[in-house]
Amino acid sequence: MRTRYFGGLCLIFLCMASLCFVVTGVTNNEDASALYLMSLLWENTVPTNWMSGTDPCDSHWDGVACTDGRITSLKLSSVGLKGALSNKIGSLTALQTLDLSYNKDLTGRLPNSIGNLVSLRILIVIACNFNGHLPTELGNLTNLSFLALNSNKFTGPIPPTLGKLTNLEWFDIADNELTGSLPVSNATQSGLDKLVNAQHFHFNLNHLSGTIPPELFSGNMNLLHILFDSNEFEGQIPTTLGLVNTLTVLRLDRNQITGSIPSNISNLVSLEELNLSNNRLNGDIPDLSTLNELQYIDLSNNSYNSFKLPRWLTDSKELITIVMDNCSVSGFSSTNFNLPVLQTVRMKNNKLNGIVKIDISDSSALQWIDLRNNNITEADVEGRTTALWIAGNPICNPGTNLSSTKSCQNIVSEKSYETNMAQCENNKCSGNLTLNPRTCKCQQPYEGILKFRAPSFSDLRDTERFKNLEESLKTKLGVDAVHLFRLHFDSSDYLIISVQLFPVDTELFTRSEVIQIGFNLSKQVYKPPEGFGPFFFIATPYIIGTEESSKGLRLGFIVGIAFGAFCLALVVIITGLYALRQKKRAEKAIEIHKPFASWGANSMDSVNTPRLKGARWFSFAEIKEATNNFSESNAIGSGGYGRVYKAMLPEGEMVAIKRAQQGSLQGGTEFKNEIELLSRVHHKNLVGLIGFCTEQGEQMLVYEYMPNGTLRENLNGESKLDWSKRLQIALDCAKGLNYLHELANPPIIHRDVKSNNILLDENLNAMVADFGLSKLVADTGVNAGSKSHVSSQVKGTMGYLDPEYYITQQLSKKSDVYSYGIVLLELITGRLPIEGGKYIVVLVKNVL
Ligand SMILES: *[C@@H]1O[C@H](CO)[C@@H](O)[C@H](O)[C@H]1NC(C)=O
Ligand SMILES: *[C@@H]1O[C@H](CO)[C@@H](O)[C@H](O)[C@H]1NC(C)=O
Ligand SMILES: *[C@@H]1O[C@H](CO)[C@@H](O)[C@H](O)[C@H]1NC(C)=O
Ligand SMILES: *[C@@H]1O[C@H](CO)[C@@H](O)[C@H](O)[C@H]1NC(C)=O
Repeated sequence: MRTRYFGGLCLIFLCMASLCFVVTGVTNNEDASALYLMSLLWENTVPTNWMSGTDPCDSHWDGVACTDGRITSLKLSSVGLKGALSNKIGSLTALQTLDLSYNKDLTGRLPNSIGNLVSLRILIVIACNFNGHLPTELGNLTNLSFLALNSNKFTGPIPPTLGKLTNLEWFDIADNELTGSLPVSNATQSGLDKLVNAQHFHFNLNHLSGTIPPELFSGNMNLLHILFDSNEFEGQIPTTLGLVNTLTVLRLDRNQITGSIPSNISNLVSLEELNLSNNRLNGDIPDLSTLNELQYIDLSNNSYNSFKLPRWLTDSKELITIVMDNCSVSGFSSTNFNLPVLQTVRMKNNKLNGIVKIDISDSSALQWIDLRNNNITEADVEGRTTALWIAGNPICNPGTNLSSTKSCQNIVSEKSYETNMAQCENNKCSGNLTLNPRTCKCQQPYEGILKFRAPSFSDLRDTERFKNLEESLKTKLGVDAVHLFRLHFDSSDYLIISVQLFPVDTELFTRSEVIQIGFNLSKQVYKPPEGFGPFFFIATPYIIGTEESSKGLRLGFIVGIAFGAFCLALVVIITGLYALRQKKRAEKAIEIHKPFASWGANSMDSVNTPRLKGARWFSFAEIKEATNNFSESNAIGSGGYGRVYKAMLPEGEMVAIKRAQQGSLQGGTEFKNEIELLSRVHHKNLVGLIGFCTEQGEQMLVYEYMPNGTLRENLNGESKLDWSKRLQIALDCAKGLNYLHELANPPIIHRDVKSNNILLDENLNAMVADFGLSKLVADTGVNAGSKSHVSSQVKGTMGYLDPEYYITQQLSKKSDVYSYGIVLLELITGRLPIEGGKYIVVLVKNVL
């Protein structure tokens, strides 16, 4: 029990100590630790310059911006975050901007603690994978002006508390799975009608239901865009909508709205797009001649009273697109579609009859007239007939003048615009790289999909328009080139465009460039050219090659900053994950090792030839030469066992040679054991055995040379080990020990874990050394029934000895873990385990 208690203490202390090193920098303590804890829940790729031991503000972590040591902005779009958002986010109380967009593996709920971020002005989590209800605490963020939660999997109702966000300008919850009706104020709660500063209600693509409440709208509102399309709204369109005369886009399409279109819609004089299609509207269509700005109108698939094509429609000067499929429209007689900017007329499945007069001269903008399945008997067409589709009309009956023209055939969709790549035809790229359409160089583009929610046009072959879009993306986002492709309208009439953005000069964007471009798109800093209307963007996470290999870099013992229990849990998880990964590697390694072949014939010992894997036999003469006859100048250490010499093999390889003193020679069996053991374990955090020598009564082991000596030497005096190095060393040792315990076969208990047995290579990577006392777990001890521990004579070093082992003589892996805990305390304090007669564990305990 005591042991466990101490072990727990060690971890707690370690955690607290790591907290210290986290916060010695410029960044506010709470902020720094919250950020670390958040990053722990993210499985892998946070930006590479998020290094433990560095200060988030001071070291300018990518995506982090600070004011006076407080983190005020966190922008992590398209980083590839995996995992959940920690409720520790709630500690970053100075945060004003939070953008986590385009991390499609960022999942779980939006923590309630987000409601603590009362300074927040901008909250964007577009196209992540969040689910669960929207926290009612969002209502506390009264300084919020930009809230974009679109394209996640949020469920449940819109919390009425959001009505408290009176500073909100952009409100986007589109493309989720929200249900329930739109909350409005009553005696007990606030509602969305209070959002008088909101310009954007983007609620489309949810399962919102009920009647659109009349109380929602008033003359105080400043709405520009109402996107309620693709929900389950029913009931009538409230007449109060006519009060919101700031409105430019109104989409109520794809619901189950009934009744007639309120005539005061005609008050919405700024309206540019009106889409009421796919509802159950009936009655008469009101006179909308006052809507002088109207560019796009879609009234399709409703059950209006039969009506004649109204003059306000055919005389409009601004209309670019008219869509009235399946609308019971009749009449047409003297209609002359010769409006200056009209591009598209879609009126299929109606009752249009009489003579169609169309002037499609080259100066006309008309590109697309779809009048299929009507009752048109005569046509007076001037100019191109290629833009006219009239199949399914009597005029196309055999023998008539137009019957053999293309116009009477069914529509063959024509190729949409696509950035011209012809000049790069002969170039090819590999991997993640793609051709830059301007330079034909191979680069890794930032990719995504632009979705325009209400474009005024519908011609996808309009080269000039899309070249314009390319140019605007290029200059406003500061990229080298833009590739647009796969242009199409989806089933909700959104214009979908795949986009690749290419970096200037370099092969890759830097992380900070990606975050900036992502933010410019998610925060709507970028504005598309006229006619494209409201948009949003969904990026593909941008993974920079080196980040993948740095997975887990930050993990480790920064871990439990807060609670010992949490620490323990995490250590277990990390060890588990690590073990899993290592297992694969180890299995592979075992395959590769050739069976032992190089055992020398002239062993002085009578012991059986060890069965070795990879270790080489050295002659005494060879070693004598390599160590310059064991010269003092080559000696690098000594211990109870004997002396250690540095030596250079004829091939130029540096090695360390451990020579047993006369008198401390192991028995032949023990020596053989050690060689067998050492030659069997191969791990980057275990000192590798290169060979051995048993000639002339000597027992010598030849190891990899570790130029930076033992950990203990490096902790003495003015240590050059900074905290991040110490953390790395702790991790390295843990990995080495974990390998011995969990992956070596049979498992090995080290029995003498201590700072003197941890060596550092030229890069200060730590390796566990000295298996002299190692004990195979498979050894049969007194407790032959159990393999989890072995009983044997107590061996080890004072100060590191596990008291439980000492008392019970039952050796288990836990004994090594205890010793490792002492090493951690050494790493943190720099003190020896026993110094001035004081035991480090007692000291630490008293301090705690
Ligand atoms: C909210 O914004 C106002 C005005 O900019 C500012 O004075 C106030 O400090 C902000 N509130 C918080 C909690 O940051
Ligand atoms: C035509 O509109 C009616 C509603 O008026 C709808 O029920 C029907 O499905 C529509 N037909 C087509 C082909 O969309
Ligand atoms: C088509 O128009 C003719 C007159 O031009 C009319 O007699 C006929 O009933 C119309 N057909 C339909 C289906 O409306
Ligand atoms: C076909 O066009 C010719 C010349 O434009 C006209 O004289 C003739 O009456 C038309 N025929 C029909 C069936 O519309």
